[in-house]
Amino acid sequence: MSLLITHIGELVTNDPREVDDDLLGVRTDAAVVVDDGTIAWVGEAAAAPAADERFDAEGRAVIPGFVDSHSHLVFAGDRSLEFQARMAGEPYAAGGIRTTVAATRAATDDELRATVARHVAEMRRQGTTTVEIKSGYGLTVDDEARSLRIARELTDETTFLGAHVVPAEYADDPAGYVDLVTGPMLDAAAPYARWIDVFCERGAFDADQARTILRAGMAQGLRGRLHANQLGEGPGAQLAAELGLAAVDHCTYLTDHDVHALRDAGTVATLLPGVEFSTKQPYPSGRRLVDAGVTVALASDCNPGSSFTSSLPFCIAVAVREMGMTPAEALWAATAGGARALGRTDIGVLVPGARADLVVLDAPTHVHLAYRPGVPLVSRAWYS
Ligand code: NIG
Ligand code: FE
Repeated sequence: MSLLITHIGELVTNDPREVDDDLLGVRTDAAVVVDDGTIAWVGEAAAAPAADERFDAEGRAVIPGFVDSHSHLVFAGDRSLEFQARMAGEPYAAGGIRTTVAATRAATDDELRATVARHVAEMRRQGTTTVEIKSGYGLTVDDEARSLRIARELTDETTFLGAHVVPAEYADDPAGYVDLVTGPMLDAAAPYARWIDVFCERGAFDADQARTILRAGMAQGLRGRLHANQLGEGPGAQLAAELGLAAVDHCTYLTDHDVHALRDAGTVATLLPGVEFSTKQPYPSGRRLVDAGVTVALASDCNPGSSFTSSLPFCIAVAVREMGMTPAEALWAATAGGARALGRTDIGVLVPGARADLVVLDAPTHVHLAYRPGVPLVSRAWYS
């Protein structure tokens, strides 16, 4: 069954070949034909081929669906009091993760499944068409494996984050926990995961532990990514570059040396503005990274501790208002940038052959995503 989407006022293709020097490859008066979940044709509305069905966009903007390359949706419990305390001046600490670990371990499979499904539905309503979901609130062999099994029911982009923090029962034996993560836990998790991730930060795992864990995962066919440089400068960004990882996420505190290493390695820097919003930390400069030639992604980091937003439009608005990015750069980062962070070429772009993941905005241009913060602008979405 083919579908013609026509009378598109502004079509964001993210294909710079479409229009010279235009990051978003914007076309006006455009149409798209979708066939069997794939983009079959893109061009002038007047020249559009016939299709089985037709949708009239009535001059509205159409963009690629958002690619949220970083979330932690398998959790139980609520940490709104922790948020409230932070808004009153308390600092964010990695140890809060253990609160969610206790609640997650106590939850049934069906409770976890319902929470993941509810948040994925919430994301879809806000235009996200691909979501990556991490484990990391189980931290036992069985709880990590079941977290990934449940996440896999909703997405192919699943990430094993057994190395989120050292759980309380291993507080006196962190090396023993690294052995568990790289041994039986990895064996149980790997069948359900595409990626392996480590929280490389003071209070979590150091660079040597992170390298060991990532190498073990990569030896089992998983691809590596990192949480790093969130709470202060540290070795994570350099490690990501050294190992040629697809992405390093947070990047709140980067030295110039880190920035150059990421650029040279082609590692995506994923910025997570919801975290700075919810922890009152300073926003990193997206401008600095873009100007240095680093590929930037924007993601929600949706989790009950540091960033409980599922909204990429919100992240775009903050990136534009607080992080020096243009509306075009921010939208690119939340679509094509997220796709790069996941090593994907079939999403984040609207070109023939790509997946038909697209969103009609209740707005004439993509600029409205930042211009109208907090307003639900997704009027229609298709995803395969
Ligand atoms: O990406 N930084 C580490 N992990 C999560 C926070 C998890 C939590 O506080 O529960 C993050 O921000
Ligand atoms: Fe995270």
